[in-house]
Amino acid sequence: MTVVILWCPRVSGSGQLSGKNSPVTFIVFYEESIVTVTSVVGLQWGDEAKGKIVDILTDVHQFVVRYQGGNNAGHTVKFGGETYKLSLLPTGILRPGVTAIIGPGVVINPAALLQEMQSLKDRGLPVAENLLVSDRAHVIFPYHMAEEAVLERLRGDGAIGTTMRGIGMCYRDKASRTHAVRIGDLYRPESFQKRLVEIVAYKNQILKALDPSAATLDADAIFADYTQLAARLKPHVIDTTAYLHRTLKAGGNLLFEGAQGALLDVDHGTFPYVTSSNSSAAGIPTGSGVPQRAINDMIGVVKAYTTRVGGGPFPTELHDETGQRIREVGREYGTVTGRPRRCGWFDAVAASYSARICGVNRISVMLLDVLSQHEELCVCEAYDIEGERVTDFPSHIEDLQKAKPIYRRLAGWHEDITGVTTWSKLPANAQRYVETIQELLEQPVSYVSVGPDREQTICL
Ligand code: GDP
Ligand code: IMO
Ligand code: MG
Repeated sequence: MTVVILWCPRVSGSGQLSGKNSPVTFIVFYEESIVTVTSVVGLQWGDEAKGKIVDILTDVHQFVVRYQGGNNAGHTVKFGGETYKLSLLPTGILRPGVTAIIGPGVVINPAALLQEMQSLKDRGLPVAENLLVSDRAHVIFPYHMAEEAVLERLRGDGAIGTTMRGIGMCYRDKASRTHAVRIGDLYRPESFQKRLVEIVAYKNQILKALDPSAATLDADAIFADYTQLAARLKPHVIDTTAYLHRTLKAGGNLLFEGAQGALLDVDHGTFPYVTSSNSSAAGIPTGSGVPQRAINDMIGVVKAYTTRVGGGPFPTELHDETGQRIREVGREYGTVTGRPRRCGWFDAVAASYSARICGVNRISVMLLDVLSQHEELCVCEAYDIEGERVTDFPSHIEDLQKAKPIYRRLAGWHEDITGVTTWSKLPANAQRYVETIQELLEQPVSYVSVGPDREQTICL
């Protein structure tokens, strides 16, 4: 007897066919019936449309986990004629029946979180029942925003161009240990108040030294404010690590939702023009308490071109009309700050580096529709750095600043592809473009997105 095992993304089952000499038994696995722990991670400088892929995958995952970053993230999701913008809340919260989890590695501004929850409640989504917040997560305070504003100003031309949400300052205090407050601390009023008085006195000294005109922060007012915010958050606060391990043991389908992108990772990105967390897949175990080996599907998300918000090197950036056109067609303006995003060609040196450090096993190519109606498209396959052809992503920004992209030129397509839902209906040149990304990233492409809506997705 011959047994054939097939893998297929949309069907499952088994049966028998009559073979030439003997019956053939076939077993077809439904993709999600063998994959339970999935991760979605951005392979560029953020805004790759991770939110859209997470939203699609929550169809088959019941637990969605944010593990790093904070309300610097901005994920836009569209379905049923509605647009949702999420920042600190995991995108999975939009699906009824999905439990959204904010893990220990996230930094939380409680007022921003409660406001975001309220805005979803106002739209009729039952957030209260399905949000869990780690008691280990660190808390963002007003002094973090104040410090960031002064430091960014002092950096002058070298400013990182942060989102001004206090993210970096909160992570710095976490690493320093002395001035950090975790969510769990908010429920121990005596020690919290004592600690806050010490921290605020110290922060006032620092702020005044950096900027004599800085406003003096009032520890009592902050204590009162945060105590009240903490009370409102209390029903959601638990030890999410223990919860996730119980869920894993029970066979729950987890989906890890990355914020930012691997090139903004504090260890592996374009330092110092990065965020302050591990925004590559490296952040998953530290930020959730779930070991890396529990993850059996790592999806890398890329835009069909490249964007970046804020400062830092960007070898394929387009300062011309083409860049402007991509920005307008792709509506490339930041979800959080509204800043115009810098736009450029697809950089395969950078994205394949990210794919390697994240260990991705498949790719999602997003916003392909934005590249329609270009005569020619360019994909960067190597850098020229002082006359040398380089395919390893440089570790120092001074080398990256010198990198001149070496392009592979591809013919464009003129058709509107926003209504295409099957691979075979994509124009041949669009197929070739996606296949080029696949070849350069050395991983199969699983999803091609041709519009912001859930339905505008080609599943391969
Ligand atoms: P994220 O931070 O990675 O989740 O990405 P953002 O939500 O910040 O940015 C992606 C933007 O592209 C959002 O406004 C999405 O609605 C939009 N988008 C997602 N997929 C597509 C697509 O295939 N085509 C177009 N034109 N827009 C898309
Ligand atoms: P999502 O999840 C794009 C950028 C900022 C700045 C740098 C540091 O939507 O992809 P920070 O406030 O984190 O200290 O800023 O990181 N940045 C993002 N860029 N998408 C994001 O998130 C980003 N989050 C932070 O613009 O350059
Ligand atoms: Mg975004």
